[in-house]
Amino acid sequence: MSTQQITPTSELLTKIKSRQARIGIIGLGYVGLPLGLLFSEEKFQVLGFDIDASKVNALNSGNSYIHRILPAEIQQAREKGFSATSDYTRLKEVDAIIIAVPTPLNEYHEPDLSYITATGDAIAPNLQPNHLVVLESTTYPGTTEEVLLPILEKGNKFGLKAARDGASVDAGTDKVFFLTFSPEREDPGNTSVARKDIPKVVGGLDANAAELAGAMYNAIFRRVVRVSTPAAAEMTKLLENIYRCVNIALVNELKLLCLRMGIDIWEVIDAAATKPFGFHPFYPGPGLGGHCIPVDPFYLSWKAKEFDFRTKFIELAGEINVGMPYHVIGSVVTALSQHKKALNGSKVLMLGMAYKKDIDDLRESPALTIIELLQAEGADVCYNDPYFPKVGRGRKYDLQMTSTPLTNLGQYDCVLIVTDHSDYDYKKIVEESQLVVDTRNATKGIRSPKIVRC
Ligand SMILES: NC(=O)c1ccc[n+]([C@@H]2O[C@H](COP(=O)([O-])OP(=O)(O)OC[C@H]3O[C@@H](n4cnc5c(N)ncnc54)[C@H](O)[C@@H]3O)[C@@H](O)[C@H]2O)c1
Repeated sequence: MSTQQITPTSELLTKIKSRQARIGIIGLGYVGLPLGLLFSEEKFQVLGFDIDASKVNALNSGNSYIHRILPAEIQQAREKGFSATSDYTRLKEVDAIIIAVPTPLNEYHEPDLSYITATGDAIAPNLQPNHLVVLESTTYPGTTEEVLLPILEKGNKFGLKAARDGASVDAGTDKVFFLTFSPEREDPGNTSVARKDIPKVVGGLDANAAELAGAMYNAIFRRVVRVSTPAAAEMTKLLENIYRCVNIALVNELKLLCLRMGIDIWEVIDAAATKPFGFHPFYPGPGLGGHCIPVDPFYLSWKAKEFDFRTKFIELAGEINVGMPYHVIGSVVTALSQHKKALNGSKVLMLGMAYKKDIDDLRESPALTIIELLQAEGADVCYNDPYFPKVGRGRKYDLQMTSTPLTNLGQYDCVLIVTDHSDYDYKKIVEESQLVVDTRNATKGIRSPKIVRC
């Protein structure tokens, strides 16, 4: 990479290294808020931006809206200068802008970049010379350069151009901004790796952008891994998520076979995981959930079509994983029929609404599909989830349900474990229930004819 024509603004680099740089975070959700708090802990001044006024108000009042972030953490950050706003003109108060807005799929399973383009449109008129802009939202390779960059270059009032390797822009004339992609790798609920210990991948549009972003992230992450371009960084994130998606599909498929063969897939995975090399365990479940694994692979399969290319592994994995909630319904039907009952008219208590254990995230949760399928079959369904006292309306569902207390379990024809929250006392649940269908191996070690593992 050539760095001859552009030198990084030494002023900004010095500011970053001395913690004088002010950090703006756009999108204060599951990714942006914890990231902002990390920078604040490391003594950076952080200004958060969100279009959701209720989030801005909550944060400015020292409250939290994410279960695992305590209000005390927000209050401590507030004391160190952290605040939130919906006013994009305040971008002139910051030196670096990190974008962590949603990247969902639309109804046709295609990338919905509207949050990124809306954010770009809002940043552009407020972009300042030498601003460092980092996109963190997961997306297909090319988004930073093909989508965000033109919006920022066209819409800014200073005629700023992104600094590019070998391009004829002169950083010394204050006519540039710096653009980088750096994927978020957070794994909600995973307490085995401290956030600081997760290496941060950075791909700058030019060497200066990479250096600036690298220095910024080095302040909060122990290791920064630089790749040559934003597209390489975008692809890195997709590779990681596709790897998970495909491997989960593999064990889901093998689980279906093992059920027919009378083999316990969980026992098999645990045994295979004792191999000290060449095997990493993935676990089957009732279907994929979360903002990432069910969504991100389709960003790449969509982009691949532009290159006349079919990503067959992604499509096959999607097919298998999407089928899992239907397998769960089939298992409930079979389990009930062994008790001489039909699903139609049966009382079913579903345990767990979150897409994985011990978190308060409902996005793309298989529980939502399972409830709809159970209701469509005429079951009388209720749920319990300590993280969701109520479930109202989302982008793809409208349930309007309230969490049922875990009492009098004998009244239900079937208790269906969809999310294996640690808070549940599974032994007691089995003792008190007539029938337990377990999609997560949560009842591992409990022997009872009432349990059906599926
Ligand atoms: N949640 C995760 O565990 C995780 C992990 C890795 C990567 N990611 C990726 O990070 C990105 C953000 O995910 P998230 O889970 O934090 O989403 P989120 O929905 O929790 O938060 C996004 C926030 O952005 C705000 N927002 C939307 N448009 C905005 C705009 N124009 N200006 C300002 N704020 C705006 C929303 O109000 C919301 O508060 C996504 O691309 C996601 O794929 C998420």
